[in-house]
Amino acid sequence: MTATTTTETDTAAHPAPAPDVRPAAIRAEGVSLGYAGEPVVEGVDIDVSPGEILVVLGHSGCGKSTLLRAFAGLLRPLAGRIVADGADVTGPAAERALVFQDDALLPWRTARRNVELPLQLHGVARRERRRVADEWLERVGLSRYAERLPGQLSGGMRQRVQLARALAGSPGLICMDEPFGALDAQTRGSMQQLLVETWAASGCTVVFVTHDVDEALVLADRVVVLGRHGVVAEHRIDHPRDSARPPAAEQRAEILAALSRTQSLAPISPRTDPRKDVA
Ligand SMILES: Nc1ncnc2c1ncn2[C@@H]1O[C@H](COP(=O)(O)OP(=O)(O)OP(=O)(O)O)[C@@H](O)[C@H]1O
Ligand SMILES: [Mg+2]
Repeated sequence: MTATTTTETDTAAHPAPAPDVRPAAIRAEGVSLGYAGEPVVEGVDIDVSPGEILVVLGHSGCGKSTLLRAFAGLLRPLAGRIVADGADVTGPAAERALVFQDDALLPWRTARRNVELPLQLHGVARRERRRVADEWLERVGLSRYAERLPGQLSGGMRQRVQLARALAGSPGLICMDEPFGALDAQTRGSMQQLLVETWAASGCTVVFVTHDVDEALVLADRVVVLGRHGVVAEHRIDHPRDSARPPAAEQRAEILAALSRTQSLAPISPRTDPRKDVA
């Protein structure tokens, strides 16, 4: 983790509870994704094991958020299948949470009531909802802001409320789209630590998108680099999350090289042969 000291915005010291979580397997099989019938990414084959932390890297616009939307059941593939625990994903489900890249809090609900939302969907009684929501707000360092509306919070605070909301629902799969991008380095380190602690306590599966190779290397069991025509590189991290044995410099260099290769891929056009897209 990049930060270990405590500040008033840091997470609570006590460990996360071990909620009743069934880690999900999720798989993309020959998937093409796009909008209005136009593909933005194609040929995606990714198999995420239950309890794994998979980090997805890729240049801006290559389809990372689009892939997470499909994993969360918010976007149907143009071709291929998304399969969760052996069944085709055909829509959203409480077991699969998505922390959006853009602000996705309900603006008319306070921070606390936003965090309560997945619990409400699970039918949890009001008093218990409030207790769990307050616990998560404490973990993300926002107890004092429970009554604030999203519009009265900073971008980084809103990201943390989103994180609390996703984790409060104890999902089997949590898809996170650059969740810590708006945070300062110290809070980012604390949130990474919170994610790893929650993951270790619950065993949930995590698919995490970032542009930060170092963040990928501290969080991941496995890193994939996505290009417009599918996965272009894959690295299993030898000693995941072991701060005593930092990831190998060669893996970092290889991932950076794969990223720079994908930069040169032109957009998919239905009128061109994709194999000619490489500049
Ligand atoms: N709702 C939408 N309607 C039409 N096109 C979209 C929509 N959302 C995304 N796109 C297009 O799909 C492509 C992939 O977008 P996506 O948001 O998945 O990229 P990304 O890899 O997450 O990028 P970034 O790293 O910048 O977040 C882009 O060309 C984008 O313009
Ligand atoms: Mg994105």
